[in-house]
Parts: sequence; C-alpha cells; structure tokens
Amino acid sequence: MIARLSLLLGLLATLSLEVLSKPIVVRDSPITLPVAKRVNATGIANVLKVDQARAKSLRTKGQRKNKGDLTPEKLASGASTGIPSTSYATEYVVNVTVGEPPVAYSLLVDTGSSNTWFGAKKLATQPPPSSVDTNQSLAIEYGSGVMLGEEWIDDLTMGSLTIKNQSLGVSLIAVGFDTVDGILGLGPMVLTYDTLFPNTTSYIPTVTDNAYYQGLIPEHKVGISFVPTTSMDGVNNGEITFGGIDESKMTGKLTTVPITSTYPSSLYVGINQTITYGSQNLPILDNVAGITDTGTTLLLIATDAFEAYQAATGAEVDPDIGLLRLTNEQFKNLESLFFHIGEDTFEFTANAQIWPRALNAAIGGTDDFVYLIVGDIGTPTGYGMDFIDGMSFLERFYSVYDTGNNEFAIATTQHTYAQIG
Ligand SMILES: *[C@@H]1O[C@H](CO)[C@@H](O)[C@H](O)[C@H]1NC(C)=O
Ligand SMILES: *[C@@H]1O[C@H](CO)[C@@H](O)[C@H](O)[C@H]1NC(C)=O
Ligand SMILES: *[C@@H]1O[C@H](CO)[C@@H](O)[C@H](O)[C@H]1NC(C)=O
Ligand SMILES: *[C@@H]1O[C@H](CO)[C@@H](O)[C@H](O)[C@H]1NC(C)=O
Ligand SMILES: *[C@@H]1O[C@H](CO)[C@@H](O)[C@H](O)[C@H]1NC(C)=O
Ligand SMILES: *[C@@H]1O[C@H](CO)[C@@H](O)[C@H](O)[C@H]1NC(C)=O
Repeated sequence: MIARLSLLLGLLATLSLEVLSKPIVVRDSPITLPVAKRVNATGIANVLKVDQARAKSLRTKGQRKNKGDLTPEKLASGASTGIPSTSYATEYVVNVTVGEPPVAYSLLVDTGSSNTWFGAKKLATQPPPSSVDTNQSLAIEYGSGVMLGEEWIDDLTMGSLTIKNQSLGVSLIAVGFDTVDGILGLGPMVLTYDTLFPNTTSYIPTVTDNAYYQGLIPEHKVGISFVPTTSMDGVNNGEITFGGIDESKMTGKLTTVPITSTYPSSLYVGINQTITYGSQNLPILDNVAGITDTGTTLLLIATDAFEAYQAATGAEVDPDIGLLRLTNEQFKNLESLFFHIGEDTFEFTANAQIWPRALNAAIGGTDDFVYLIVGDIGTPTGYGMDFIDGMSFLERFYSVYDTGNNEFAIATTQHTYAQIG
C-alpha cells in the first residue's frame, strides 16, 4: 500500500509539473451533460446479488491475484466473478463519441471505477482509425462483470467537451455488460493502478483529470445529479457537470467532507458517516468508513447494521428476491433514516428507502409488499468499507466528487423529500 501510494504521489507530482510548465487557458464555465437512467432486471431478480458481488470486488481491490489468472476462457465463463453473466439491473448512461470519424457509445457512469473503455456490445474488431496503440492490454474485474481488451489513445467527446489523447480501453471480451457499450470511469486515478499489462504499475488519468489538466474545465471536480424515476428505460433525468456544480439542482447548502483515510474506502469516493433510524435515533452505523458509488444500485450496509435496521423496521427478507420487504400495513410505520455526514444530518425518508413500487415486477416482486433498498454488504463492520451509498441513495441528493481538494460534498435537492410511486 505504501509503495502504491508513493507511486501515485510521484505520478501526481509529474502531472502537476507538466501542467504548471504550460500556459493554461482555463475555461471559466463547467460543462453539463444529460445522463439517462435505465432499469432492466426483468426475470432476473438479482439486484442484491449483483450489488453484493460488486461490493466484494470493490473491497478486495488491491488484493487481486496476478492478471495472468484472468484468461479469456475464465472471463468468458464468468468464473472469476463467481456469478453468471448478468446485466446491471439499473444504470445511468451517458453518450460519448470517440475518434475520427466519430463513433458513438453509451457508457455507464461509474464513480466506483476509473478506467474508461468501450466496445462491450459490439466487440471491437478494430479500434477507430484515428486511435494510437499504447501496446498495453487492459483487464478489469467489476464483481458483476469483467473486461479484457487493449489500451488505445484517442479524443473523447462528451457534449461540448472534447478531451484530447484520452487513454481508453477497447474491449475484446466483456462479460456482464449487455446493455451498455462500456464504462465512463469517474473515480480516483489510483483505481487504474494494475489494470494495464505489461505496465502494471502505470496510472491512467481519468477523463476528469485530463479535462482539467488540458484546461477544458475550471475546477478538478464532478457534480452529479441523479433523479429517482418509476420509468423502465431511457429517461434523461440526470446530469453530470464536469468542472463545477449545478446549484440550480440544490435546495440546501453543500456539506463538504474529506475523502476518508480509512483503507480500502480511501481508494474510492469514500467518506465517514453515521446512520441512525427514526425519531428515537436508534444506532445503525457509528462513524465508519464506506463509499459513495454511482455503479451500485442499492444502499448496502454492514451485516450488523443491516440486522439493526431489520429489527427496527420489522422487515423480513423476501426469500426469492433477497431484499427486505414490508407489508403495506407495516410500511405506514417506516421511519426515516438519518445520515450524519460531517457536521450535518441528511434525512432519508421512508419513501426513499423503498424500491419504486411501480417497478416491483422488474425485480420479480409483487404488489403485496413494499421492498426496501437497504441491503446487507456481506461483511460485519470493521472492514474499512462498511457501507456503499449507491444510486438509490444518491438520487435523493446532489453529490460532488472534488478530486482537486480530495473531498466529497452533498446537498439536499427537490427530490430529497419527494414521494415517488
Ligand atoms: C443518447 O443518444 C440517443 C440516440 O441519439 C438518444 O436517444 C438519447 O436520448 C441520448 N441519451 C443521453 C443521455 O443523452
Ligand atoms: C507499439 O508497437 C509498435 C510496433 O512494435 C511500435 O511501432 C509503436 O511505437 C509502439 N507504440 C508505443 C506507444 O510504444
Ligand atoms: C496529443 O497527442 C499528439 C500526438 O502525440 C500531440 O501532438 C498533442 O500535443 C497532444 N495533445 C494534447 C492536448 O495533449
Ligand atoms: C435487458 O437485459 C437483457 C439481458 O439481461 C438483454 O438481453 C436486453 O437486451 C436488455 N434490454 C434492454 C432494453 O436493454
Ligand atoms: C508504459 O511504461 C513506459 C515506460 O515507463 C511508458 O513510457 C509508457 O508511457 C507506458 N504506457 C502506458 C500506456 O502507460
Ligand atoms: C472513519 O471510520 C473508521 C472506521 O471505519 C475509523 O477507524 C476512523 O477513525 C474514522 N475517521 C474519522 C476521521 O473519524
């Protein structure tokens, strides 16, 4: 870990020197792009399993075995993921184009990983003609999917933002990405360590890093507005802002906290938080480290916290779906969760804690029950990643990953107290 950190610091030093030695023409306004939410879990009923597999993979990053273990055969069979090939149940996607002539891709917005790559749906036989080969292969494991490909360099365009010479993966094999063309990795650069071969110790600047270093955006941060929906597919209901925040989406002030120093959450957009339940402030989680992650659907908490939540709510585990469920009668008594982040408290209402009832069928549920989006992360507290505030949480707030200041920020929105179907 120490060696890894010093490598990263060395790299950051080089990058900033390079930046400082060039005159920078900084654009003074951030760039905002629409993102669309899609829900596609029909007949699978595995939202929880997918999230738990991802959580395990995120937690054990850095303890991975040699890349040589990721053979095409193993990847294709899904053996290394432990679960069969499956799609993300819900995902936020953004449109990008790569190269010249430009080819359009729809990429999953992921703050829990940092490599950007494409070619999952139409496996790339050829990279775009404008691309430059780095002679590096790329292998990434996501828990709910894996990809193996090559690393090329080309221009990446998102709306009015064109990032020059972005290092990009072109997939040769991709398992678990049936509905997207690839990933837009918005997490910390440290997560790209050990994804290339033979340069296993290289880091790859993310799209946010390059946009900032190239002076295309004024600040080294990304603002995220996700919005709850009861629609199954393709609603352009969210946005990402590169280089700033969109205050029009916020109804309260921003609360800013440092990225946690607790490993392994420190590798991600990790924070410390306390969770309590209801007007009696029942303790659920007490000042532990975990992460915020746009690539996780649910809100996952450590097993003991999950048990405390289950006891407090009286919910039972649905034997088929694995999610907690309440009867409609019990649901009337469900109280808010309170997230204590920094000096502030954020209310997560009863309505926010449920899977949108209009989408019960999409996860294999019925109208007799109300399903809860709070799931068990699979390990007790003490693992340094004791929660994942996934998209079900993020949809109720505005969130900011501030790379430049190594901070996370959060604010209430008009959706914080909204009643969704
Ligand atoms: C992406 O492009 C498709 C096809 O042009 C369009 O229908 C969709 O609305 C776009 N989505 C977003 C999030 O911009
Ligand atoms: C990749 O390999 C080719 C062929 O050996 C070589 O011409 C090219 O310079 C290499 N590119 C890089 C970035 O090393
Ligand atoms: C992109 O790469 C080309 C070729 O190496 C180089 O000439 C150009 O200056 C680079 N542009 C930026 C913005 O890094
Ligand atoms: C939903 O997922 C299945 C595979 O799990 C895929 O075949 C199908 O195309 C997806 N539907 C949409 C609309 O993306
Ligand atoms: C691989 O490592 C070499 C030597 O350190 C370096 O010149 C090259 O830029 C690296 N390539 C990539 C894609 O990181
Ligand atoms: C964050 O939580 C971890 C436990 O997960 C704890 O060890 C650490 O002291 C906390 N950090 C702060 C700044 O409170």
